Amino acid sequence: MNLGAFGELARTRRATRSFRPDPVPEETLRELLECARWAPSGYNLQPTHFIVMNDPARKEALYRACLGQKQIREAPVTVLFAGDRDVASNHFEDILKLDREGQAIDAAYETLLRKVVPLAFGRGPLGLLALAKRLYVTIAHPFTPLPDVPAINMDRWLTRQAMLAAMSFMLAAHAAGLATVPMEGFDPWRVREVAGLPRRMLVTLVVPVGYAAPGTRSKTRLPLERLVHRNGW
Ligand SMILES: Cc1cc2nc3c(=O)[nH]c(=O)nc-3n(C[C@H](O)[C@H](O)[C@H](O)COP(=O)(O)O)c2cc1C
Repeated sequence: MNLGAFGELARTRRATRSFRPDPVPEETLRELLECARWAPSGYNLQPTHFIVMNDPARKEALYRACLGQKQIREAPVTVLFAGDRDVASNHFEDILKLDREGQAIDAAYETLLRKVVPLAFGRGPLGLLALAKRLYVTIAHPFTPLPDVPAINMDRWLTRQAMLAAMSFMLAAHAAGLATVPMEGFDPWRVREVAGLPRRMLVTLVVPVGYAAPGTRSKTRLPLERLVHRNGW
């Protein structure tokens, strides 16, 4: 694909709220999820899970948890993008092993990751370590540059990761002739319950996917000059 073709894809993707009932072929859905899987993530920890909802009864419950937004009812499938707050303990060792075997990391980088990841994600018993980190950041910040520590702002970190995966998913869907709509209009606790997710999972985005029914309006954007700032504000 060249830049022109990608530009066309990015410009013509539309948030679609009316869907035909035609099912999404399983192999196409799998390819979209594959594109989402290959999205980047901090430390390659891959905290985002993709929960595929197509059972009619579950979809009806999801529709209510999504504040009655009709696209959930209409689209044959809805994917929940959900981040795992315990990703450092659940994925880290497996990913190190895969990366080591695939020669994606060398010994020096593994040693670095083994230091940095516990530092960034460790919350300690009852979150006491996270509290200490918050205190340290507050005191030290005026004197030294510090990153946005996931242990302190885990949900923000998870949201950042999930959104990249969701965008890959939506562009891939568009490339496949399918339509999507990213949705934040939902009750995260109820959506989690409907999907039977453990409490540690944070649902960050709900994305119905299917074939568009006619009627989606074109969109506008502010001029680029209003949004681009070079070398500062
Ligand atoms: C984070 C996010 C949350 C959104 N939530 C909703 C939603 O709950 N319901 C909805 O109908 N559209 C939702 N949208 C779609 C936006 O309204 C839409 O993307 C915007 O109007 C631009 O239209 P376009 O995507 O077709 O260019 C959301 C978009 C984003 C990025």
